[in-house]
Amino acid sequence: MFQISEVLRKVPFFQTLGKDGIDFIVERLKFKPFEANALICKAGDPGDKMYIIINGEVKVVVTSEGGDENLIAKLTTGDYFGEMALLTGEPRSASVITTEGAEMFILNQSDFDVIIERFPSITLSMGKIMSQRLRETLKKAAAKPSSGGITTVRGNLQERKLVDVLKFCDNNSLNGKVVVKSGSEVGEFHYEKGELKMVKLGDLPEDRALDTMLNWPEGEFVIEPRPMQMEGLQEKAAAKPKEKFVIVIVNNSMIVQKLLQRAFDSMGYEVYAVETAAKAKNMVKSMNPHLVIADTKLPDAAGSAFISELRESSALPVVMLTETSNRSQYEAETSQYQNVHFTNSHEVGEVVKVVEGVLS
Ligand code: CMP
Repeated sequence: MFQISEVLRKVPFFQTLGKDGIDFIVERLKFKPFEANALICKAGDPGDKMYIIINGEVKVVVTSEGGDENLIAKLTTGDYFGEMALLTGEPRSASVITTEGAEMFILNQSDFDVIIERFPSITLSMGKIMSQRLRETLKKAAAKPSSGGITTVRGNLQERKLVDVLKFCDNNSLNGKVVVKSGSEVGEFHYEKGELKMVKLGDLPEDRALDTMLNWPEGEFVIEPRPMQMEGLQEKAAAKPKEKFVIVIVNNSMIVQKLLQRAFDSMGYEVYAVETAAKAKNMVKSMNPHLVIADTKLPDAAGSAFISELRESSALPVVMLTETSNRSQYEAETSQYQNVHFTNSHEVGEVVKVVEGVLS
């Protein structure tokens, strides 16, 4: 008979939680045995559960267009799987099949969400493992190029919102670009490993280009992946400057998050992005960052309300994303708080300038 706590001690993300955290999770785990060769997750299906292996072994596989099974990984006691669909809302990235009889703990999406809300640090350790897994999967895929070559995906903006297309590229670690056409205008989003690197639309600055394209009511898009170049990636990662400051970005717009994240990331900052005030407050508690960059329009705390909530527990500097047109309004609304700074626009260069000024 297994000891629950012994199994959980082997699960990396539990190790960061205290006894309370583990007890909280243990109450929500459901036990389930599986026979050998049981298909637990099927690639492409929606996913609402994650699994922790108590004993036994599973294989993680993707099936090529020709029907060949491509082994990605084998997982065993203390490993977990199925977290990607829960974290990203995307379909299962691979199929998971038992190679022998196995016993598992299962966590439902609703319990998972509660746990993430209560212990946001889990998202970070899981996120790191998730990106390693994605990289690994891409590496394997790159080592065995499919005979069909690279497939493009196309569609129109009435059926799929551009923001969802970009989210898809993000979640699937796209290397390549998304070309968007509306009437005679053509714009491009360039991605590297799921990170938005450049936005192009004529001569417009990136944020204007983004706003414009996100507001196109109709048009077409094509996702054009390019082959992953594995060589050089490791050197690039190794060449990255040593991380110095930790920044939390709280912004409702995934695109703004990405643009800022990309800029600060490339400058060697450690950057975390969330979309609500509640998540930002949790993140501040768990990460103890040097600075927060906050939008004025958060879904759960508009404008200065976020600053007043944050100031109940933290005095750290906040840069509010304001524009010349609304800056003085927010300056007045937050005048009783120390260490609140403002931008004159949402342009990445302006935000970087203000943040660097505050942290220098
Ligand atoms: P999900 O996408 O929800 O469903 C399939 C699961 O397989 C996925 O979550 C991960 O937990 C797991 N998985 C995918 N790729 C890898 C990998 N490279 N290494 C280990 N596990 C993986």
